[in-house]
Amino acid sequence: MLKFALVALLPELVRPVTGHGVVGRAFARGLAALSCHDPREQATDRHRTVDDRPYGGGPGMVLKYAPMAAAIREADAALPAGSRRVVLAAHGRRFDQALAAELAAAPGVLLVAGRYEGMDERLVDAFGLEPVSLGDYVLSGGELAAAVIIDACVRLLPGALGDEDSAAQDSFAGGLLDCPHYTRPEVIEGREVPQVLLGGDHAAVRHWRMRASLARTLAWRPELLAGRTLDAEQRALLEEVRREAEASRMDHGMQGPRRPAGEDDEQAD
Ligand SMILES: C[S@@+](CC[C@H](N)C(=O)[O-])C[C@H]1O[C@@H](n2cnc3c(N)ncnc32)[C@H](O)[C@@H]1O
Repeated sequence: MLKFALVALLPELVRPVTGHGVVGRAFARGLAALSCHDPREQATDRHRTVDDRPYGGGPGMVLKYAPMAAAIREADAALPAGSRRVVLAAHGRRFDQALAAELAAAPGVLLVAGRYEGMDERLVDAFGLEPVSLGDYVLSGGELAAAVIIDACVRLLPGALGDEDSAAQDSFAGGLLDCPHYTRPEVIEGREVPQVLLGGDHAAVRHWRMRASLARTLAWRPELLAGRTLDAEQRALLEEVRREAEASRMDHGMQGPRRPAGEDDEQAD
């Protein structure tokens, strides 16, 4: 079981992730568990104060050391030895599929969510917290970031997904973006499903999907291809896709990457 312990002022923003969809089912089946630890309950004054003005002045408030530390200690006690200790922070290591896999492989994960201008920095040192960011934008609090991390980790747990292969085929799992997907009907408002997907030729479908995956990665996230080891088939397909993209750029007199067909309707021409 993967145990999460959350330190947050607004745990109600995180709990719903444990009750819905595949992740909810994983929690219900005991593959993961979440305990919540509210620093406000650790505050000792009449008003249950958890924040104070920043030293040095400036706008906003800062989460105080003492109630946060007490909540972290309580959360830590709910986790097995060897658990990872994450603090959600805009400046941290960017959360990605590799980090999701690392955290999912740990016995437990402490998630410390900030609010206001953040928390007293001494907590990071005192508890050996690893700053993790969801991306280059600022959230009002770390709770939604914690919910995202829980979701991404739990779906990687063995037995969490109905089809064991589906996590392995997701975007980023193999270092590439996922290919496009289609379902019935075959034609909708004149838009057709690629013919190869209808023919039942599994090798052709696999080949098409690999090519589409490479084309999508080249168009949207070319940096994922840099430094990635491709097999001979992938190298040949990527070369083909590159030539096609180049030809299409020439045709359209465009600068920069062109999205694969079907993904650039708004940008095209
Ligand atoms: C309003 S933000 C504080 C922003 C902080 N003053 C800064 O500029 O980096 C409050 C809390 O939201 C969380 N947070 C904000 N942006 C985040 C991001 N991109 N990733 C993860 N957590 C984030 C952090 O826990 C942070 O302490």
